[in-house]
Amino acid sequence: MRPILILLSMILLNTLVKAQKITFHKDIAPIIHNNCTPCHRPGEAAPFSLISYDDVAKRANFIKKVVSSGYMPPWKPDNDYRTFHNDRSLSKAEKDLIIKWVDNKAPEGSAKAEIQTSAKAYVNGTQYGRKPDTVLKMSKPFPLKGDNSERFIVFKIPFDFDKEQNVEAIEFVSSNKQVIHHANFAIHPVEDNIDIKQGADFVDLSGADRTQYDQYLPFKTKMDYYGGWIPGTSLESYPKDFGWVMPKRGVILLTIHYAPSGKDQEDISGINFFFTPNPIKRKVSVISLGSAGVGEGSIEPYFMIPADTTKSFELKIVTPQDQSVLYVWPHMHLLGKKFKSYAVTPEQDTIPLVSIPDWDFKWQEIYRYKKLVKIPKGSILTIEAFYDNTKSNPNNPSNPPRMVFSANDMKTTDEMMTMLLVFLKYEPGDEDLELDPK
Ligand code: HEC
Repeated sequence: MRPILILLSMILLNTLVKAQKITFHKDIAPIIHNNCTPCHRPGEAAPFSLISYDDVAKRANFIKKVVSSGYMPPWKPDNDYRTFHNDRSLSKAEKDLIIKWVDNKAPEGSAKAEIQTSAKAYVNGTQYGRKPDTVLKMSKPFPLKGDNSERFIVFKIPFDFDKEQNVEAIEFVSSNKQVIHHANFAIHPVEDNIDIKQGADFVDLSGADRTQYDQYLPFKTKMDYYGGWIPGTSLESYPKDFGWVMPKRGVILLTIHYAPSGKDQEDISGINFFFTPNPIKRKVSVISLGSAGVGEGSIEPYFMIPADTTKSFELKIVTPQDQSVLYVWPHMHLLGKKFKSYAVTPEQDTIPLVSIPDWDFKWQEIYRYKKLVKIPKGSILTIEAFYDNTKSNPNNPSNPPRMVFSANDMKTTDEMMTMLLVFLKYEPGDEDLELDPK
């Protein structure tokens, strides 16, 4: 009896599922457009577009595979520890829907049925909902030789506006994201008596000779803001009345780490700026904690990972004032395995900030909170990181493993234990303020 019952119920279920008729336009497109298209479209990091029915249908089996295994969409934080506004992981129901649709031979359905609510209209050249007000980018394409070597280049991008500008969002952009390992940029205001056009357009720091860099030192007396990009990272935007002020005149120093490439290529990179005429009531700041930042010398034990060992480190920093945190951005390199950060208040309450139990250098992100997170004055902000410098770490760039330190030149073969924190001074009511960046 039993097998027959099972068979019958399977047939019944099958008919039910068929009756529901999962179609691309009605059911699948909204999921793809929200969770895949931000990266899978022209100009972004993924190797092919996932926009139209054809884009998706011709890769249906492949999509089923990467969605079932959890490889796509990439999302590394532990959602049970802390959830984020920009969570792009799929729910079980969404995954099941995609899998069933593929199993049913990926029917297209009527385009009229497409639900437009969730699928954002993407603007070319940006992940923000509108065109940038200014794009500050390299003056000419950078030629990348196809000689399979990695390169570290610092580009000088001078700017001279007629006035200061209030920034509501910034975004790294590139004509060739697929050749970029990572990028970071610092915005330096420069006094009128210093020529911002002086010096080379870029300096190459790939080799041992770093003296070329000295020509940029006159620009570096002050820094107003900094940010970065790694495949997977989206833009940085702030809620209404929040932001920072872009100086009238200065220089952006943009450091790009180019991945090795087997063929000659070109790249033009820069930064999109989105300004607002509204006054900025709450000034956002960014701080880098750990390697190459605040508290570097307080990492315990001393930040060094001997060959053939695994090692944990901890950094504790006292919060000097009541602060509200918007975003965190954890950063390690290839030996990194686990990353966790939390704050313990003077009352011994623990505030979870972020946990990445299975670190992957390839997928890094600015994690944006749903609401501002208050960290009271006197709290101890803690970062814990775990590294594997043995042969059994498949990402270990050295074979045999070698002793690894943190060196400030960001080579991927060195290590870092860093967290960027985007925050502002706390004001009463912040805990309830929803962060809803576009
Ligand atoms: C954060 C950006 C990002 C998002 C979001 C994203 N992808 Fe990808 N995807 C990539 C990049 C980059 C690659 C190529 C590198 C790689 O395969 O690791 C890729 C590769 C793929 C591949 C090829 C995998 C392989 O082994 O070659 C498939 C299939 C895919 N993505 C499907 C999806 C689907 C389906 C979604 C949404 C459910 C999605 N992706 C969301 C960035 C993204």
